[in-house]
Amino acid sequence: MTDNTKIEKIVSLAKQRGFIFQGSEIYGGLAGTWDYGPLGVALKNNIKRLWWDTFVEKRSDIYGVDAAILMNEKVWDASGHTGAGFTDPLVECTKCKKRFREDHLEDATCPSCGGELGEKKDFNLMFETKVGAQGNQKSYLRPETAQGIFVNFKNVVDTMRPKLPFGIAQSGKAFRNEIAPRDFVFRSREFEIMELEYFVEEKEWESEFSKWQEAIWNWTDSLGLSRENLREVEVEGSDLAHYSKRTVDLEYNYPGKGFDELSGLAYRTDHDLKSHQEESGVKMTYTPVEGDPFIPHVIEPTFGVERALMAVLSESYTEDDLGDGRVFLKLSKQLAPIKVAVFPLMKNKPELVSKAREVYEELRETIPQVMFDDNGNVGKRYRRQDEIGTPWCVTIDFDTLEDNTVTLRDRDTGEQKRIALTALVEALDL
Ligand code: GAP
Repeated sequence: MTDNTKIEKIVSLAKQRGFIFQGSEIYGGLAGTWDYGPLGVALKNNIKRLWWDTFVEKRSDIYGVDAAILMNEKVWDASGHTGAGFTDPLVECTKCKKRFREDHLEDATCPSCGGELGEKKDFNLMFETKVGAQGNQKSYLRPETAQGIFVNFKNVVDTMRPKLPFGIAQSGKAFRNEIAPRDFVFRSREFEIMELEYFVEEKEWESEFSKWQEAIWNWTDSLGLSRENLREVEVEGSDLAHYSKRTVDLEYNYPGKGFDELSGLAYRTDHDLKSHQEESGVKMTYTPVEGDPFIPHVIEPTFGVERALMAVLSESYTEDDLGDGRVFLKLSKQLAPIKVAVFPLMKNKPELVSKAREVYEELRETIPQVMFDDNGNVGKRYRRQDEIGTPWCVTIDFDTLEDNTVTLRDRDTGEQKRIALTALVEALDL
């Protein structure tokens, strides 16, 4: 299977099985937007939950926030996003008037009609909007979640009294008016970021940066991404964001695309807190137990949810020759949207259906992500569950009615074993 075919198959499976649909599809779509179906939202939530558990719940030095998407416009002046720092180079074809991102073009003529390209302009990626009935207060849909953290720095310090080093984490939507959204959900105009700002003393930044590099590797391990599909890249020169003194991206080897950014780790210095202090007039200092107040420096590990999801789908998409060839998603039990599916052997035997329903309802009490399926034959049902990555299938047959045993089938090996219903939850090992 070539890499191009693999990505086409993943995109098609994502649609067919209810993971990801084109945004506003019935109206012909809206470029750069995607809608998540029942399984897509479950997978996305599982990724976000794993991130939150790893970096907020399991750590005593990181605090969560959920700031507003709409913020005072001065936030973006202070952060530098309204200026030249948050723009992409735009060129327009003088003939067909189509617009392109200049740094993505392979030659100096229009890729659509071959016409001559006009002068390069800086195109700001923020979506502007107006707040209130008067329409005279400008705001933006946030292009990153980080600023919601910085503007709440004092609130968290004053209420939680953390000791340096400590972090503030947030995940949520971000919006960028990308000139050329592409590669499925990889470059969208509306997407989600999971990020945290880790505040440190300036002299500690290098050692803390290294610790975060390690923490990111551990997190990608827990997503099930193999290390040979990942590489660190030192971001240099004009690719470095306007706020960063050092950035190391982690790139994933996306099928049909090659290595590209999955996450970034940036040393933002004291740029943001200092700028907000200047713009707002509010002190953004931290007071140590001993010594004078100072503005901390910050290390920022940031992850794109959609890019993590695309990497997880790519890594888990598997074809093997079980039966007459099958497709399955080798998702970890933690990430799988559905953990177990319950089937009656036959749909037209009420006693089997009712026993299967009973088992399904009982399982739901301990494992909410259970699916009941009585459509088609058992082989077809296995196929459907394989394609959505369900680790276990349980079949209720006539023996179940006699001796309360069921057939438990393992997604990866296809192996089936007979077990007592009383041992089922333990055998699922979720
Ligand atoms: N606060 C830092 C920041 O926003 P970024 O590298 O611009 O850094 C963070 O974006 C992450 O968001 C990236 O590492 C990438 O995974 C994801 N991302 C960026 N632009 C995206 C887009 N247009 N569509 C989907 N994900 C995107």
